[in-house]
Amino acid sequence: MRYTFSIIKADIGGYVGHSDVHPALCSCAEESLAQAKEKGLIIDYHRADCGDDIALIMTHTHGTDSEEIHRFAWETFEKATEVAKEYGQYGAGQDLLTDAFSGNLRGMGPGFAEMEIEERASEPIICFLADKTEPGSWNYPLYKMFADPFNTIGLVIDPSMHDGFRFEVHDLVEEKKIIFSCPEEMYDLLVFIGAPSRFVIKHVFKKDSDEPVAVTSTQRLFLMAGRYVGKDDPVMAVRCQSGLPAVGEVLEPFSFPYTVAGWMRGSHHGPFMPVSTANDTPTRFDGPPRVVALGFQLKDGRLIGPRDMFADPSYDLARRIALEQADYIRRHGPFEPHRLPLEEMEYTTMPKVVEKLKDRFVPLEGVERDF
Ligand code: 13P
Ligand code: 13P
Ligand code: MG
Ligand code: MG
Repeated sequence: MRYTFSIIKADIGGYVGHSDVHPALCSCAEESLAQAKEKGLIIDYHRADCGDDIALIMTHTHGTDSEEIHRFAWETFEKATEVAKEYGQYGAGQDLLTDAFSGNLRGMGPGFAEMEIEERASEPIICFLADKTEPGSWNYPLYKMFADPFNTIGLVIDPSMHDGFRFEVHDLVEEKKIIFSCPEEMYDLLVFIGAPSRFVIKHVFKKDSDEPVAVTSTQRLFLMAGRYVGKDDPVMAVRCQSGLPAVGEVLEPFSFPYTVAGWMRGSHHGPFMPVSTANDTPTRFDGPPRVVALGFQLKDGRLIGPRDMFADPSYDLARRIALEQADYIRRHGPFEPHRLPLEEMEYTTMPKVVEKLKDRFVPLEGVERDF
């Protein structure tokens, strides 16, 4: 049987500042999901959050980019925004960039990662939800899971994975896409995904099928809004086992808290810290950026779970390294590479300061004559 697996997320108000979601907003979203299930729009759901972002994890049979499902998510976020306003939540409606829904969520602010799949006899899926970072942050772990034998031994010893995988990469600036086949085109792939602010992995496919085995949300709020409204805080779903990376191989890349862009005011590099759902509330300098992993078994479209995968103490060391890295990089204060490079700062509030000071700049020759 074919099912659509959708994660649709938005920041519609933070509690307190940008650190968490108020329980009243969660209840509102949950109620809306329960009604959608009752009406038969969706088969099952799990309402989740990471930091100040709410995620609607849903199964249904409407396919990806479905107007009905996207409209439902939009209206749910609108309702929860009203609650956010009532409770004075910070940045109420932050990610809802337009006034009215039109067709689907593309370009409207909320992020979505969806895939239509033929459910296998056992279908383990891990949902990753991030806060204080951008969609390119999934490039590194997806590469490790599906292309690096030092991470995924299955690529070497499992005949059903030995051929490798295909990666669909989006150029978010020029709005183009390309598919790389690995391991043959591994070095070509890395040319692009090593620049995660612009090139992002959207899907991963097996070599012999066009059915996705992993999908990410790729919306970049500043590209849509033309200004800084908050970080994208992306989500990702990855299928596991039986010809795909094992659950442990899918989680393994996060044992290294690699550096991502985001954190305070969306303007800093910092470690990506894997945390349990109990610890998904970024507070130190509004961070550090973090990720939770929710594990489900899909059965007849029902979401059995979630298991809180990063609650495992085997991620304690990654968390400690992340905190040490956070401390190290924080000491750079407003200096790069803690602060993002100038081209990335273009959409923050910094250009306004530059504008204010522009008349005080004089030609260098002039400066030399004056002194
Ligand atoms: P089990 O023997 O527990 O099924 O595990 C198999 C496996 O592939 C672990 O990665
Ligand atoms: P969010 O993107 O999570 O809303 O955070 C915005 C911010 O500016 C944090 O300092
Ligand atoms: Mg926010
Ligand atoms: Mg957020």
